[in-house]
Amino acid sequence: MQSLISGYRALVIGATGSIGSACVRVLRTDPNCSGVSELSRHSDSPVLLENEASIAEAAESVRASGPFQLLIDATGALTIDGHGPEKSLSALDAERLMRSFQINAIGPALVMKHFIPLLDGKHRAIYAKLSARVGSIADNKKGGWYGYRSAKAALNMMLQTAAIETLRKKPEAIFVALQPGTVASRLTTPFVRQAECLAPDTSATGMLNAMDVLPVSAGAQFIDYAGNKIAW
Ligand SMILES: NC(=O)c1ccc[n+]([C@@H]2O[C@H](COP(=O)([O-])OP(=O)(O)OC[C@H]3O[C@@H](n4cnc5c(N)ncnc54)[C@H](OP(=O)(O)O)[C@@H]3O)[C@@H](O)[C@H]2O)c1
Repeated sequence: MQSLISGYRALVIGATGSIGSACVRVLRTDPNCSGVSELSRHSDSPVLLENEASIAEAAESVRASGPFQLLIDATGALTIDGHGPEKSLSALDAERLMRSFQINAIGPALVMKHFIPLLDGKHRAIYAKLSARVGSIADNKKGGWYGYRSAKAALNMMLQTAAIETLRKKPEAIFVALQPGTVASRLTTPFVRQAECLAPDTSATGMLNAMDVLPVSAGAQFIDYAGNKIAW
């Protein structure tokens, strides 16, 4: 990435995911990137979105590799505990809604809490969270997928609020909610023909290029992998 300092350092959380691992692969080909740290549920210091202590310990475990100029949280889930997204109001279940909020909004907010302090405060630095277009209230024309949509909308608000607070101290920081496209992945396999999806590396390359040209802003920005703005 050309907009970050020479030899910038990156960290990918959710590095075992289809999109997270693609981000790691693509970043490793960037000669300007001096190191990519990876965290996931399976790393030596695991990040478990349901457990704040694990998130805090994982942040501590990579502190010495920072500060980071690029931090990507690529975690998230659509099918949870074997249950896919709800198609109708009659399918709503309190426990399943809470699980989606836990994994797609609350866990990632706790990741923000413990990892935003590792973001470089002296140079341009980007905090990117994989969100989803379906989390856009303005864009919701089809309905369905109540829990996932609502959790992503809540996530977007968490990111916007964290951006406003952090920008007071780190004015060169960029906060971005990302729609990766419809990407071949574990998450999409039950719902979309994988041959019709974007390859994860194509999505990752697009998102990194789009982030490279994002201007500094007074708050978070919501864009897709082609750099197009999405209405909140
Ligand atoms: N694929 C798409 O078309 C698409 C479209 C819109 C938005 N997105 C978003 O993009 C992100 C990545 O999706 P993906 O397609 O790459 O899915 P994926 O292959 O299923 O990867 C999901 C990642 O999240 C991690 N994760 C899930 N639950 C977790 C938990 N409880 N604690 C810690 N980590 C957990 C997974 O860890 P494990 O490897 O341990 O399971 C994995 O690293 C998600 O936020 C998704 O909502 C994807």
